[in-house]
Amino acid sequence: MRHTGGLGFALALLALSVPVGGTAGAATAEALVDALNAVFGKHKGMRASHAKGLCAEGRWIPTAEARTLSKSPLFAAEAPVIARFSLAGGNPNVSDKSRTPRGLALRIALAGGEEHDFVLLSTPVFQAKDPDTFLGLLRARAPDPATGKPDPEKAKAFMEAHPDTKVFAAYVAKMPITASYATTAYWGVHTFWLVDAKGEKKPVRWSFEPQAGVVGLSEEELKQKGDDFLAAELRERVAKGAAAWTVTLHLGQPGDPLDDPTKTWPEDRPRVTVARLEITEVAKEGEKGACDPLMFAPDKLASGFEPSSDPILNIRTAAYAVSFARRME
Ligand code: HEM
Repeated sequence: MRHTGGLGFALALLALSVPVGGTAGAATAEALVDALNAVFGKHKGMRASHAKGLCAEGRWIPTAEARTLSKSPLFAAEAPVIARFSLAGGNPNVSDKSRTPRGLALRIALAGGEEHDFVLLSTPVFQAKDPDTFLGLLRARAPDPATGKPDPEKAKAFMEAHPDTKVFAAYVAKMPITASYATTAYWGVHTFWLVDAKGEKKPVRWSFEPQAGVVGLSEEELKQKGDDFLAAELRERVAKGAAAWTVTLHLGQPGDPLDDPTKTWPEDRPRVTVARLEITEVAKEGEKGACDPLMFAPDKLASGFEPSSDPILNIRTAAYAVSFARRME
């Protein structure tokens, strides 16, 4: 497996237009969606980010070990899942060969009527530590009105002034360009609280490891591929048998970062295998599928789980609602 591009390329993708070192101002949900639209253009009826995507369905199968950890309905029994695989960014025509994270959104319909959503990325960290920095980064990537083009030098300077943005860029510069949505690992990125019946809270993070292994494409393989291979690949794969992921809860320890999605936890934190995710159906070519009109919400959590104080996590649902309202107009 070969990796393409480099940090320089990732930096070039992130051109900025706010004063370096300056604040971007208070980041509202609306300002964030406007900034996404400015970078990627407005596309009627499309998500402001993760515009290109594919609906699928499957099952959530919790383990017995999960039930020793928590009595949450999320772990009580098998449940149906509506899923959406996607490419990050608001360009609906982005190439499947792009050096951009892949996304996985899940809605799990639990017995008793509760729902739990996961809205995951194929990177273990996010682009910025807080909404103001992310807004600054997006505004800086927007085309300069004078030239109609983004200015990579401004992006570079902004990132120098905001080192938290370099962690994600370094990861993306080296990540494999995936061969399949089903050979991609996904992360929750944020910390959540696992809360027991007595109200005691433990910090946790999520990861989804593909049971088919992580497989990237070599330069040679990439040359053979078109710009839209991921949907057909997943349909063919799932027609032969379920695509599956091992779902792991990472247990935090005192001192681990709780509210910064640019910081990972040490590798040696205890892990519990809590579920198997199976994708068993993929929307047919030309069909939108059940996920299309949904708004997946990062804070829609089954009882037993609560959001942490991570400011990125806490603004996401409001931003998704702005995008949802606009795409439904
Ligand atoms: C402040 C930070 C963020 C903003 C402003 C933002 C914004 C958005 C918006 C506007 C959408 C479209 C929502 C819709 O129309 O339904 C979206 C989708 C998505 N975002 Fe984010 N996002 C942020 C952070 C993240 C993070 C941290 C992750 C994952 C760890 C993530 C993963 C996704 C995924 C997977 C989708 C596609 C959901 C779907 O398929 O419907 N985003 N984001």
